Amino acid sequence: MTRDINDQLQELVDWENGLIGPEIFINDDIYRRELEQVFGRAWLFIAHDSMLPKPGDFVNTYMGGDPVLAIRQKDGSVRVFLNACRHRGMKICRAEDGNARNFMCTYHGWTYNTAGELINVPNLDTAYFNDLDQKRWGLVEVAQIDQYKGMWFATFDENAVPLTDFLGDMTYYIDSWVDRTPGGIEMLPGVIKWTIHGNWKLGAEQFGGDGYHAIITHASSLGTFDPGFLRDIQGIEFASRQGHGYSMIFDRMTRFADDPLGRYNSDQFDARLERLGEDRANTVGNFTVFPNLSGLPGSANLRVWHPKGPNEFEIWSWTIVDADAPEEVKRAQRTSAAFTEGAAGVVETDDGENWDLIGQMLDRGTQTRKMAWNYQMGHGHETDHDPVYPGRVLRNYFGEGPQRTFYRRWLEFMTSEEWPVAPAVEPERHEHEATAMGAGIGPRAAAIM
Ligand code: FES
Ligand code: FE
Repeated sequence: MTRDINDQLQELVDWENGLIGPEIFINDDIYRRELEQVFGRAWLFIAHDSMLPKPGDFVNTYMGGDPVLAIRQKDGSVRVFLNACRHRGMKICRAEDGNARNFMCTYHGWTYNTAGELINVPNLDTAYFNDLDQKRWGLVEVAQIDQYKGMWFATFDENAVPLTDFLGDMTYYIDSWVDRTPGGIEMLPGVIKWTIHGNWKLGAEQFGGDGYHAIITHASSLGTFDPGFLRDIQGIEFASRQGHGYSMIFDRMTRFADDPLGRYNSDQFDARLERLGEDRANTVGNFTVFPNLSGLPGSANLRVWHPKGPNEFEIWSWTIVDADAPEEVKRAQRTSAAFTEGAAGVVETDDGENWDLIGQMLDRGTQTRKMAWNYQMGHGHETDHDPVYPGRVLRNYFGEGPQRTFYRRWLEFMTSEEWPVAPAVEPERHEHEATAMGAGIGPRAAAIM
């Protein structure tokens, strides 16, 4: 890239016309900038309360490219530190999760307590002549941490807006699955992790809005156990000005199977209706919280897309259940989630094949990188003033509004020096005015590099 990178990014991400240049999925410079500008500043999902029940409980995860440790403190709070020793940068903890009183670096033995303080330095007297000021060499801590209904998020940027502002109108939709019983949700122990050779945004954008792919990509797997899924599908698409997206299918919770899960959902139905109202209780969906938290509440699946390079990402996937559900139901939910959306799930493998092949083509080709992709579905048919649902809403299950706003938000993070504050709602605009848009190879997105 020789021209100013901001100009090039503006050309690549023509979200207004629904055109994206796929260079953003493969370019090394863009990827490095993304780690700094997006993952270095946005609120990122860290862990759920249920993963850290006791003081000393920890979870090892990533914020973008950086390993971090989330640790439950004695006072009940959660703190998040870089999992990197202040001496030579070695990881101080290599376990995925557990309970600890302190963390000893296995390189030279510097040791930190759960509050991140450096509490022991081998040979402090004979090697350092007692000159090292230990208080100054504690673990590096994130700038902010906060939680929404038990979901902990952190950011490296002290200028980031409060978490509730960052989530914005997405909380209305998140509540439809984190808050459907008084006990909230629980994430069952055991995260499933696997690697895809593609760009992390392919997963994030699909979960925010792409119900369209299910008709073809999942024709065999979904048709196997629910032929009705592909016919007469009714729902909405929600696109948040903050970059989040939710695709919601109506009338899904009224078809109860005669098994532990079906009977549980049937028993719960009236209580959920009262708690959430019929606009949310009788729905399932798929969503993305910008940038890299996604889920399929209907399949009890929550996941993070961890970037591992421009053309590689890891999926970390958990089963979520109602915390106060019977054990039999939790077991059934875990089996069902693994069967459909686990690493070898009948649905999940369909998606991975798409992302992997696209990644291969972008990696090996040159001309395919110059061809703009089409994100024009439903453009101009959305409203910012739906009488029921907050945010920009399309009264149709199929659309690409969430993807357009995801990339709009991504572009704002990538190109702004200040933390990119977005308005809570869109200003007035003409609705239902379909815009005449360009052909598949857009003049802006194609004229790149
Ligand atoms: Fe950790 Fe040296 S790198 S003690
Ligand atoms: Fe899929």
